[in-house]
Amino acid sequence: MRVLVTGGAGFIGSNFVHQTLATRPDAEVTVLDALTYAGSLRSLDGVLDDVRFVEGRVEDGALVDRLVGEADVVVHFAAESHNDNSLASPGPFVQTNVVGTYELLEAVRRHDVRYHHISTDEVYGDLALDSPERFSEATPYNPSSPYSSTKGASDLLVRAWVRSFGVEATISNCSNNYGPRQHVEKFIPRQVTEVLDGRRPRLYGDGLNVRDWIHVDDHNSAVWAIIDRGQLGETYLIGADGEVDNKTVVETVLDLMGREAGDYDHVTDRPGHDRRYAIDWSRLRDELGWQPRYRDFRSGLAATIDWYRTHEEWWRPQKSATEARYARSEKVL
Ligand code: NAD
Ligand code: DAU
Repeated sequence: MRVLVTGGAGFIGSNFVHQTLATRPDAEVTVLDALTYAGSLRSLDGVLDDVRFVEGRVEDGALVDRLVGEADVVVHFAAESHNDNSLASPGPFVQTNVVGTYELLEAVRRHDVRYHHISTDEVYGDLALDSPERFSEATPYNPSSPYSSTKGASDLLVRAWVRSFGVEATISNCSNNYGPRQHVEKFIPRQVTEVLDGRRPRLYGDGLNVRDWIHVDDHNSAVWAIIDRGQLGETYLIGADGEVDNKTVVETVLDLMGREAGDYDHVTDRPGHDRRYAIDWSRLRDELGWQPRYRDFRSGLAATIDWYRTHEEWWRPQKSATEARYARSEKVL
């Protein structure tokens, strides 16, 4: 099977490439990635010789057309992915997330190629902390940030191309991923690398916001289950019952790294900060028989901390520019 992976030098996409090559001997993988600030060939260390790597943008219609024409399935991870960046500068999010998805959809339509669209639970907005509710495939879209609204827009394009043009597509909306090779701008790698550098973690606002954590390898095994057995035209939510508030995450990181539980700062809150995400993933379990492998967040976090401890050469080049960006808007409360 010839698999075109967009965004395969980013966090989830590169882990998808590693998992695919390790578990699917029939897969011939092509990666299309623009190598933005968020992409790195270092994330493909150990497998670069086993894939075809093409540097380019998903908005480049001619390039996308050629690569899609040479594929049996397209898995579209490429995106501008960070909420804070979308608040500072939304333009690239519209270009990559909306226009890029449009170009891919037109190419899979022309070439009649199976398409899987990677999306986020953030398209559903947020939930109250005290609500028993979780997001399901039937939850109405209600995105809060420029990032999540462009992801929502891209999902709606996919749905329209399925209905109007019969494109063979599936969509997955996953909760917050953690694991190796995640950029240090994101919450967990940022705090872990701050502690490694002898500084204090930073919690936005009151720190009580809840995210529903899933290990990146579980996300990616669910994506393969959907490609293999999912119903065309359908959406599947991916989660792993991992609800934890941010303060608890930081305290666990500090504990695992041998620091005092209260050794962190509260800083300026994110504008429009979603309060809580929670995923009902029963459709994936009941229809496709999928189960997550990482059930214990603390031990998954400990393994992730170890990865950052032993891969400083991977994250160090990103670190000072990332912290300089945060320093422009962040104040200790
Ligand atoms: P990431 O920012 O780590 O990686 C994005 C990759 O896409 C990078 O390699 C980057 O170079 C590439 N890219 C960006 N713009 C591009 C363009 N115009 N053309 C080609 N390549 C481009 O992102 P991630 O966290 O790995 O997220 C991957 C996908 O998963 C995204 O679609 C995101 O919305 C979705 N998602 C992420 C999470 C999460 O917790 N990180 C959860 C659910 C869904
Ligand atoms: O839910 C899925 C989404 O998860 C994905 O679609 C996004 O691509 C991914 O970035 C992630 O979005 P979040 O905004 O939830 O992730 P982030 O890592 O930016 O922040 C997680 C939580 O931690 C959030 O409540 C904000 C908070 N935070 C973040 C940073 C960087 C802090 O308290 N301190 C920080 O320094």
